[in-house]
Amino acid sequence: FNSRLLDGIHMTITAGPTREAIDPVRYISNHSSGKMGYALAAAAADAGAIVTLISGPTNLPCPERVTRVDVISAQNMLEATEATLGKCQLFIGCAAVADYRPANTAEQKIKKDGDTMRIDLVRNPDIVSTVAHHSARPITVGFAAETQDLIRYARGKLENKKLDLIVANDVSNTAIGFNANDNAVTAIWKEGQLAIAQMGKNQLAAQLVALIAKQFFTAKN
Ligand code: PMT
Repeated sequence: FNSRLLDGIHMTITAGPTREAIDPVRYISNHSSGKMGYALAAAAADAGAIVTLISGPTNLPCPERVTRVDVISAQNMLEATEATLGKCQLFIGCAAVADYRPANTAEQKIKKDGDTMRIDLVRNPDIVSTVAHHSARPITVGFAAETQDLIRYARGKLENKKLDLIVANDVSNTAIGFNANDNAVTAIWKEGQLAIAQMGKNQLAAQLVALIAKQFFTAKN
């Protein structure tokens, strides 16, 4: 694999979870550690790309030669993503974006009251889909985290979100997916698919970047 495969290509990659505030001390989130997205950012930078990594809260150091933009909520992540779209030629949405956020964020800490409580949620914007529908559309890659019917649901997301490629991730297996050091995925595009067996996220990211670069130059020509 040619290590300068993406020389000078502007890329935006999202990684990690988002946090959706309930009040000043509580939030809704998920188990994403950011490891997969950071590994992709490092692999893309190694391949010569100019990478902006838009990251939800994680404990990871920023990879070398990568520009990181820190965000908290899905709405912050969308704004930071849109700010890169003027230059961005290749987008990878690896973040585990919260699908819903509390309809209202309380200004003060919510006090305990009854035995049950309700929080109304509203739908968050879909970042990868917004990117794929943008007028200056970059080649757009998404992930699909599923606990059942992996390939069928992933193909559905590929079509509905108008993506060029989707990386299907079985997150029911705790040895791979959320927070694990390893992953195993199936890359799916319109005309084909490729299963990549379990390995470390860094090694897997290098394989995905090579595959995505191939798709990128095929789509461009
Ligand atoms: O961070 P790690 O601990 O290393 O774990 C990696 C991972 C499991 C988080 C990663 O491999 C992964 O699967 N990321 C996608 C998680 C996810 O939110 O999947 P989804 O199937 O719910 O979403 C599908 C796609 O839409 C994703 O590209 C997601 O970024 C995007 N999305 C979803 C909702 C939303 N509001 N906006 C989005 O852009």
